[in-house]
Amino acid sequence: MPCKLAAGNWKMNGLRADLVELRALVAVQPAPDCGVLICPPATLLAPMAEIAAGSHVQLGGQDCHTGKSGAHTGDISADMLADAGARYVILGHSERRADHGESSDLVAEKARAAHSAGLIAIICVGETEAERDAGATLDVVLSQLKASTPAGATAANTVIAYEPVWAIGTGRTPTLEQIAEVHDALRATVPDADMSLLYGGSVKPGNAAEIFGLANVDGALVGGASLKAADFGAIISALDAA
Ligand code: 13P
Repeated sequence: MPCKLAAGNWKMNGLRADLVELRALVAVQPAPDCGVLICPPATLLAPMAEIAAGSHVQLGGQDCHTGKSGAHTGDISADMLADAGARYVILGHSERRADHGESSDLVAEKARAAHSAGLIAIICVGETEAERDAGATLDVVLSQLKASTPAGATAANTVIAYEPVWAIGTGRTPTLEQIAEVHDALRATVPDADMSLLYGGSVKPGNAAEIFGLANVDGALVGGASLKAADFGAIISALDAA
């Protein structure tokens, strides 16, 4: 069975003053079958690890380098993330594919580095609006999936997140039928049928329950609504109830 996971991606948001949100989240008790994850900016990993110690909340990075260490100014390795308290790392987010020109081959190499450091890789895939309009959604998503997932990826070390680029931060979400179509195709294609499949893109307390009701949606990767414990807590409750 895939594991249920509510994952928050704080992106480039969060100062030490915002640790209060994690403290509030640690107080929310989800059912044991629902994992809760926050991926803060790297500067907050260590203080968050102290707050989350012994709680149900796990932590993740938002990117990692392919190497273990070395002369790569500004980069962070998977081993460093693990050392700071991370259990997961988001890889191939569309913002990194767009802002930093990351290819699926590079994402696969990063996922290999994450696995060697003992991290669970959350590999992101998703089409642009132009690709959807051209009827290329499944082609794009499935080819990103195949090229971004390294050999040795299993349900124990890899999670897939479907994030349509046009739904991120826009308040627009695909229809339930559109989400189901992509998630059903992902389930049929992933190398291990038990891999958790997350949906991401404008997930909010108001739409989480219906999205979690879909057969092949095992959770969400949440941006804006993960920044406040009250909103993210409501999404976690919706996942618990699903
Ligand atoms: P929003 O939830 O803000 O749309 O962001 C989704 C996302 O990109 C999560 O990785």
